[in-house]
Amino acid sequence: MYFITSNEGKFREAKELAAKYSVEVKWLKMEYIEPQGNSLEEIAKLSAEMLAEKVDGDFVIEDSGLFVEALKGFPGPYSSYVFKTIGNEGILKLMKGEENRKAYFKAVVAYFDGKDVHIFTGMVSGEIAREARGAGGFGYDPIFLYNGRTFAEMETEEKNRVSHRRRAFEKLFMWLKEKD
Ligand code: IMP
Repeated sequence: MYFITSNEGKFREAKELAAKYSVEVKWLKMEYIEPQGNSLEEIAKLSAEMLAEKVDGDFVIEDSGLFVEALKGFPGPYSSYVFKTIGNEGILKLMKGEENRKAYFKAVVAYFDGKDVHIFTGMVSGEIAREARGAGGFGYDPIFLYNGRTFAEMETEEKNRVSHRRRAFEKLFMWLKEKD
């Protein structure tokens, strides 16, 4: 199957995991305009339906975001835009003086099998740090605390073992295996 994404890091993570399930994932490097929606599930489903008109064969896409409890789930489906605008410093500012630091990452994987779209989700819970820490990873990793360290302070492999993306893709690959 093709993984349609412009993000190489996402592709590599999915490819490595796929190999463990004997699934071959190829990179279709492509940027597409995401339809608007109020949930990651809705956006992923609409995106997959739109891409199904253009791409031959089966493919997968992934949409993810950070959900902060004290901010009522913000930035959620708007994570990409918020990261590009106010970024990690902006989130830390919004969280100043806030004691409830609970947050989670969520990933939604939409797989088009040539006929229908199937949705799989994965989550990882953690907390918003009080300051950005670590040089690894990408996006919100420096402010996302998991068991006392930020995702940006972990080795890629260590983060990938518990990531929301891994959990979502794992569900897809297990589902494909069971179907065989
Ligand atoms: P998208 O799924 O490419 O639209 O990404 C949504 C936003 O969430 C981007 O700004 C990413 O930086 C952020 N994001 C998604 N997954 C992660 C992650 O594993 N770590 C840190 N940020 C993430």
